Amino acid sequence: MNKDLIDIRELSREEIDELVDVAEDIMLHPEKYAEKCKGRKLATLFYEPSTRTRLSFESAMYELGGSVIGFSDAGSSSAAKGESVADTARTVECFADIIAMRHPKEGAPYVAANSVSIPVINAGDGGHNHPTQTLTDLLTIHKEKGRFEDLVIGCCGDLKFGRTVHSLIAAMSRYDNVKFVLISPEELKVPENVKTDILEKNGVDFVETKSLEGAMPNLDILYMTRVQRERFFNEADYVRLKDTYILTPKKLQNAKYDLSILHPLPRVNEISVDVDKDPRASYFRQVRNGKYIRMALMMKLMGVD
Ligand code: CP
Repeated sequence: MNKDLIDIRELSREEIDELVDVAEDIMLHPEKYAEKCKGRKLATLFYEPSTRTRLSFESAMYELGGSVIGFSDAGSSSAAKGESVADTARTVECFADIIAMRHPKEGAPYVAANSVSIPVINAGDGGHNHPTQTLTDLLTIHKEKGRFEDLVIGCCGDLKFGRTVHSLIAAMSRYDNVKFVLISPEELKVPENVKTDILEKNGVDFVETKSLEGAMPNLDILYMTRVQRERFFNEADYVRLKDTYILTPKKLQNAKYDLSILHPLPRVNEISVDVDKDPRASYFRQVRNGKYIRMALMMKLMGVD
C-alpha cells in the first residue's frame, strides 16, 4: 500500500478486501483494537466544513487508544495569514503521526502528502475525490448485501459534481457483474471522462436515465446524492435543479424488498425523513461504518499490526 491515500484507485481490490475484513473484525471485537494506536496522534486539518468525516476520523483514533489534534476551520489556522498547504503539513508533521485533510482545492492533500513523510489521507478535495467515503460505502455494501459482485447500483442526483459517486463507480467497476444505472437531470450527468476512462474502459454495463421511478424495480443499491450548492457557479441553476429527485415511501413501492438505500450525507431534501424508518434505509448505518473503516485504514497506513 502507498504511504498515503489520495484517490481510491490507489488501492488494489485485495487491499480494499483486507480493509473491509479488518473493519468487520473491529466491529465484532473492538476490545482487540483498543490500544493499537496508543501514543499515536492524528491531525485533522479541515479547510472545509464536515460533520461525519472529521468526527468519524477523530472517534476512530480515540477508539484505537490514540489522540487527536487539528483544526476544523481554516480561519482559525495560519492559512488565514497565507500559509501554504505544504508549510502547514510540514509544521503538523512535527506533532502528529498521520494527517487527515479536507480542502476545497482539488489536489491539496496530494501537495501535503508530497511535503511530509507521515501518511496523509484525503478527507475530500473539492469535487475530486473522497476515498474514505468510498471505503465507507464499500463496507456498507458488503455488510448490507454480503458481496460486491452481481449488483445493480443506481446512482441518483448530482452525478456531475458528486465526488463520492465518481469514486464509488471507480471502486465498484473492478468487481464482477456490477451494473450502474445513472439517474440524473441532463445538466448533472456523470462527466464523460468517468464514462470513458472507468466504465467503458473496464467493460462495465451502464445506462443513463432521468427516471428514478423507472429505474427503481431493478436496483439492489440506491445511492442518493445531494445537489451541492457549493459547487454551482450560478444560484439560479442550483435552485432549478436542487429538488429534481426526492425519495419518498411512495417511490419505494416498486423497489426490491432487500434494496439498500445509501447516501453519503448530509441530505437536504433528496430523501424524505419518512423514508428513515424503512429498514432499507441504510444511511445512518453507513455513517457508523465510516468509523470502523477509518480505524482499519489508519492502522494499515501507520503499519500497526
Ligand atoms: N459524507 C461526508 O463527507 O460528510 P461530511 O461532509 O459531514 O464530512
